[in-house]
Amino acid sequence: MSKIYIVGALVRGKQKDVLIEDGRIVRIGKIRASQTKGARVIDADGLTLLPAFVDMHVHLREPGLEYKEDIATGSAAAVAGGFGAVCCMPNTDPVTDNAYIVRYIVDRAREVDLARVYPIGAISVGLRGERLAELGKMQQAGAVAVSDDGQPVSSAQLMRLALEYAAPTGLCVISHCEDKSLAADGVMNEGLVASELGLKGIPSAAEDVMIARDIVLAEMLGTRVHIAHVSTASGVQLIREAKARGVRVTCETCPHYFAATDELVRGYNTYAKVNPPIRTESDRMAIIRGLQDGTIDVIATDHAPHATFEKELPFPQAANGIAGLETSFALAYTALVTTGYLTLDELSDKMTGAAKIVGVECGALQAGALADLTLVDTQESYRICASKFVSKGKNTPFDGREVYGRVRYTIVGGELKYTYAKETEQ
Ligand code: DOR
Repeated sequence: MSKIYIVGALVRGKQKDVLIEDGRIVRIGKIRASQTKGARVIDADGLTLLPAFVDMHVHLREPGLEYKEDIATGSAAAVAGGFGAVCCMPNTDPVTDNAYIVRYIVDRAREVDLARVYPIGAISVGLRGERLAELGKMQQAGAVAVSDDGQPVSSAQLMRLALEYAAPTGLCVISHCEDKSLAADGVMNEGLVASELGLKGIPSAAEDVMIARDIVLAEMLGTRVHIAHVSTASGVQLIREAKARGVRVTCETCPHYFAATDELVRGYNTYAKVNPPIRTESDRMAIIRGLQDGTIDVIATDHAPHATFEKELPFPQAANGIAGLETSFALAYTALVTTGYLTLDELSDKMTGAAKIVGVECGALQAGALADLTLVDTQESYRICASKFVSKGKNTPFDGREVYGRVRYTIVGGELKYTYAKETEQ
């Protein structure tokens, strides 16, 4: 177990030293020279120390789709993005709908030994929306949540069963909210831009009616439900009202829903194609207000790596998804903190709050806490460069965008897992 001595980091605005030993923070404040013997020293002058981020929604694509991403490259992308832990979605091949695949992911992630990886099991066998998967067995094998993400659970009865069976296991049920009959063969947000481009639109209602359904079910059963990737103003309002009534609903949004609008699709830009689709400016502002007033609990990435040949296609045929692990902090810091919508501490809470929702430990800035930490330079501005991503997925509509906020170091379990190498930049 290594010992790390961080010198002069900004900890909630004040310059402090931090000593880490045996995977935990030993002390924050002035540290005596005798205590630091044998420690690896990190000069953190000008850098801000934050708990490492936790992402409850990523696609690591292993097993089966390793040409898009695998557990090793996805974990490397996670720590490069400042994440200490990620929860990976079950739309693998074969689908992660049983204890054996959950166990495989846990074991492979341990071998890779970069970020903590928590599997999410499927709600239904094969993601087919017909039969419930073995939730309890997957939980025992290490799953922290269940979801059919990528596909909605169209049957309300099956969703009801999932909520009822998951409740005693403690598994978080994550709902991909999409009414297939309304989304139909839409490929981007329904509205002016879609009309001008001649592309078939997906209305906000396709997302909202499913959010409403899941709120009704959670309210009836008294169970909790988590809504994935909220993108609409009306969805935020439904969740706000449900929370006010005491419904046990939590939700996430993703950087592309508050850092972009459907204008980004102009030019038939398939890199901006994602499901649910990037919406309008009024949706974007409603998402920001939802983050501000606590309606939206957390920011997830929905890191969805795809190969270039799957993106460079005519718009209707291109794959949905954005590779987000390596841009999340900078996009969020730039869109939310430099603009004054959130403080850095509030953003940090949004980027770690997933730990509480899925029930895992995360880092914190206090003695005794788990040493899952990240050091960021909030002053550094730079252009996002997709070709330098560690992830196999270079698919981002933010390539070339100027942002603030560079992840410089990531520590997981008291071990240094990522160091940003400035010299590799051109
Ligand atoms: O854009 C998306 N991509 N949305 C999803 O729900 C699934 C994801 C994927 O797996 O590529």
